[in-house]
Amino acid sequence: MQDLSALQSDIEARIAAAQDLRALDEVRVAALGKKGEVSLKMRELGQMSPEERKTAGPALNALRDALDAAIAAKKAQLEAAELEARLATERVDVTLPAAPRPRGAIHPVTQVMEEMGAIFADMGFVVADGPDIETDFNNFTALNFPPGHPARDAHDTFFMKAELDGAPAVLRTHTSPVQIRTMLGQKPPIRIIAQGRTYRNDSDQTHTPMFHQTEGLVIDKGTHMGHLKGCLMEFVAAYFEREVEVRFRPHHFPFTEPSAEMDVRYERVGDEIRIGQGDKWMEVVGCGMVHPNVIRNCGLDPDEYQGFAFGFGIDRLAMLKYGMPDLRDFFAADARWLSHYGFPALSMPNLATGLS
Ligand code: PHE
Repeated sequence: MQDLSALQSDIEARIAAAQDLRALDEVRVAALGKKGEVSLKMRELGQMSPEERKTAGPALNALRDALDAAIAAKKAQLEAAELEARLATERVDVTLPAAPRPRGAIHPVTQVMEEMGAIFADMGFVVADGPDIETDFNNFTALNFPPGHPARDAHDTFFMKAELDGAPAVLRTHTSPVQIRTMLGQKPPIRIIAQGRTYRNDSDQTHTPMFHQTEGLVIDKGTHMGHLKGCLMEFVAAYFEREVEVRFRPHHFPFTEPSAEMDVRYERVGDEIRIGQGDKWMEVVGCGMVHPNVIRNCGLDPDEYQGFAFGFGIDRLAMLKYGMPDLRDFFAADARWLSHYGFPALSMPNLATGLS
């Protein structure tokens, strides 16, 4: 059995020399694999006499057990070293800044503009546009505000130093000048909405110097007040996504005759405003039949063409539907407010799948 102990120390030396798990496994296969040195020796037991086998058998078993143990020990040692090496290279630096989540949301004003656009598009309106800086003529004169008329003061107008068409330019006080631009630029029938920024020198919980309006204008033959009422009633039902009781109150605008304001029924339950029921009325839109003078100012014959117009405060509509109590927060550019009240960027409001 002299050669067995030589074999054992030879294999043990190779086990000790193995640099990694693969090299160790090669040593194992060469010694204990099917055709390994130890296995071949065990196969020789079959040709031995029973006497020889009595000593050779246990000696070979002992050799195999010793080698198994040596390999297992070396394997554990190599695995531990490998783990150490990995931990050293893959260390996580917890002081690095965290990867930011994608941020940003659609502002409620933009959301409501898109909702209004979807509803009026469904009724056959197209979108028209005009600039924030307007001529005095488009903002006032053509809309039947005579020069020097006190209604101009009522608008708290921001007049500019620069002149346009021979008069100080104004930041438009309403979207109604788009009515003039549209009637001067295209022939009836006309059915447009115009949305955008408007400006008045006014600031409190429900007024900001910059706010938003949606204008509507319909010009056609035989247009009457019933069309106006039906259009606005259909709008509020679609916008608030429920039955809403409305009332029309007589009002005055220079550019419509007759003029009205439409209120919606609501109630206050705690801090919450519930639209459509209750014992209170909230004004949501100014409207009326387009004044014959306005139609004439745009080169059309008021005996041939009539029409109606309306102007919504978008910010007010957004506050009512989405429960935001203070208008000034809308323009404070506070990311926390926007992430709370904002809308997902990829959901386009439409009537088929629901507006909001
Ligand atoms: N321009 C009016 C305002 O800003 C609203 C309005 C528009 C009223 C169209 C009647 C018709 O108050």
